[in-house]
Amino acid sequence: MTEPKEGSVVIIGSGLIGRSWAMVFTSGGFKVRLYDIVKEQVTAALEDIRKQMEELRKSGMLRGSLNPEEQISLISGFSDLKSALEGAIFIQECVPENLELKLKIFSDIDRFVNDSAIISSSTSCLSPTKMFNGLRHVKNCIVAHPVNPPYYVPLVELVPHPQTEPVTVERTYALMKKIGQSPVKLMKETDGFVLNRLQYAVISEAWRLVQDGVISPRDVDIVMSEGLGMRYAFLGPLETAHLNAEGFESYCERYGEGIKRVLETFGPVPTLSGEVAKKIDQALWEDQTDKPDQLKARREWRDACLSHLAKLKKEMKKN
Ligand code: NAI
Repeated sequence: MTEPKEGSVVIIGSGLIGRSWAMVFTSGGFKVRLYDIVKEQVTAALEDIRKQMEELRKSGMLRGSLNPEEQISLISGFSDLKSALEGAIFIQECVPENLELKLKIFSDIDRFVNDSAIISSSTSCLSPTKMFNGLRHVKNCIVAHPVNPPYYVPLVELVPHPQTEPVTVERTYALMKKIGQSPVKLMKETDGFVLNRLQYAVISEAWRLVQDGVISPRDVDIVMSEGLGMRYAFLGPLETAHLNAEGFESYCERYGEGIKRVLETFGPVPTLSGEVAKKIDQALWEDQTDKPDQLKARREWRDACLSHLAKLKKEMKKN
């Protein structure tokens, strides 16, 4: 076994995202300390991680060069925050999405942590300003927002607080690269960060098309999964446009007027409730007799697809 990296990564909260982060860090050879306020959660998390890694090994999808036993041996469970933080080089907070809760945990971390550790939050949409204002170690604080499931979807959005030091961003970026994730740097915070702003634009227009009776909910999803999504798994919207003409400027010259005409027909923010929500919901449940089991089976299928796509993307990068 290769020697584990110096210092520990501390995961705060051992739920869905905390477990995934623990697996991603150990796959990169880092020692991980898994802390949760609920002691039993840590025990359950360690057992779940062991099972997941064994399954991944069987399917050939285990990340990193270490086997499951070696990766598991890098993780230790903690139910005391102060001892968990001893010798920490990087802290990844994964407690539920609740500002009060995050403020409390960051104030506790701030008291116990050493001056060089990076304090990072997994938050999906809370602003760094709201979470980190007034902390003694604010210069070391950053958001590293993963995408579920982080084991297969490598994007991590790095969002600084206005007082975050550039070196914190650079160190976090380098660490994410080292563990095989794909970080992007936001220069400043914006509500929803970037992934969700793009995602919400798509949901908004999908809603409007269903509401206006243009297309069925199932067919909207096919437009994405069999059309746009095919490209977007490899190229972003800007490079897609760039390649569809002789460069991006040429694309704007050719198609700009048409794009603006269509964009002007986009309506107000959808209500996200009422009849349209019911219609979409019913369409998505159709033919699904056992609802909870169907969702579980579909999520497993989604994860299997994503793991194969991750493999394909890796192969395509080599070419
Ligand atoms: P979860 O509910 O699965 O897990 C939260 C864990 O935090 C639980 O184990 C709970 O016992 C523990 N916890 C609660 N209070 C605590 C405290 N004071 N100290 C230590 N541990 C505490 O939540 P999940 O889904 O893992 O989300 C965690 C964070 O990740 C949230 O901020 C969420 O927005 C973000 N996130 C979630 C994604 C998702 O798809 N679930 C995707 C990207 C980010």
